[in-house]
Amino acid sequence: MPAAILLLFLVAANSLVAWLDLPAPRLPGLQLPWPFAWRYDADLPVSPYVWRKLALAAAMVAAAALLAGWGLWRRRGRWAMLAAGALLLVNAPWPRPALYLAPAVPSSFDRSGLPYTPASLLQGRLAYQAQCAACHGEAADGQGPRAASLPTWPSSLGQPLFQNRLEGEIYWRILHHPGVSISGDAADAWRMVDYLRALAYGASGGAGMPAVPAPDISLSCRGRGRVPLSALRGLPVRIVAHGPATAQDERDDPRVVTVVLTRGAALDAECASADVEAWDAYAFLAGATPDTLAGAQFLVDRQGWLRARHAGGDAPAWTSGDNVCGPGGRLHVAVAVQGLDQILKAMDASPIPPDRDRRG
Ligand code: HEC
Repeated sequence: MPAAILLLFLVAANSLVAWLDLPAPRLPGLQLPWPFAWRYDADLPVSPYVWRKLALAAAMVAAAALLAGWGLWRRRGRWAMLAAGALLLVNAPWPRPALYLAPAVPSSFDRSGLPYTPASLLQGRLAYQAQCAACHGEAADGQGPRAASLPTWPSSLGQPLFQNRLEGEIYWRILHHPGVSISGDAADAWRMVDYLRALAYGASGGAGMPAVPAPDISLSCRGRGRVPLSALRGLPVRIVAHGPATAQDERDDPRVVTVVLTRGAALDAECASADVEAWDAYAFLAGATPDTLAGAQFLVDRQGWLRARHAGGDAPAWTSGDNVCGPGGRLHVAVAVQGLDQILKAMDASPIPPDRDRRG
């Protein structure tokens, strides 16, 4: 019996940590489903008119509670008090939930507990191509070969899909897809979410999306030996896809840890990865193909988030485009920063808490 109570307490505490996104460790899989059809979303634009109505409704509910308390406390006029309270309660002008809440599903606050690695992203891609691409398109742009013959046009699964929805909600949509039952297990659905997010960031630069973690890759580093990228947390990292014009950026730089990706070739650098899967996975994030990734670069912040990237070629590095993050960990492309120094400063000035639920 005490064990059951302890477990119940753990599950409840774990669910609260997840629902409120508290900065506390949580145990994936040990969580109650979200019980409501709506959830709070700090990023939802709520009009002043709706705020006023909410305030009025809340005030009326508070007044109703006072009246009810008063009525129960005092005998005289009890029924009049209770009736007035009930009247206030019934007439409180709550606005429609859609005006100030986001629709929710039982798995809204679930997070993937899978490692965020190239192998996992590539598995997600295989599953996506086998089961989804015919309708949603190879590039997830809704332009699959079967699209035109369907009664409803399949959605584009790019950046807008991730903008206002939690990953647990996209996961739910995949598992409860009208007319499609996915083969494979729930882990495959998480892998598809991860793959689609990487693709969305690659295609769009991620404006408005929540931040994307840098896939964990295995490195061999001078002085450190073989370490995973996640072991470099606490330091800013620059990832360079080795190409004909990257020699300058592959040199050690005291401001960052330099990681050079190659397509299999060994190379002397501060840290290097010759893993072909790593190369292919970072190509998704650059919006490139493995054949066009060379020259692309990424900046990873101290918590392991991708915070800036630029494609190779003639474009000057780190001046425009896919830059850093604004408040709340959302990617903002319009931040005007020039050069590596400024970007590193901007990254440190708006830190995003580490993703506690990911093994990596
Ligand atoms: C037979 C064609 C077809 C296949 C196969 C298919 N989908 Fe869909 N999908 C659709 C259509 C059509 C819609 C839009 C219908 C709707 O909104 O109800 C949709 C909607 C979605 C949505 C919701 C998008 C949104 O904006 O709300 C997601 C996510 C999604 N699909 C993911 C997938 C994934 C992942 C797979 C592979 C496991 C898949 N779909 C397979 C046709 C398909």
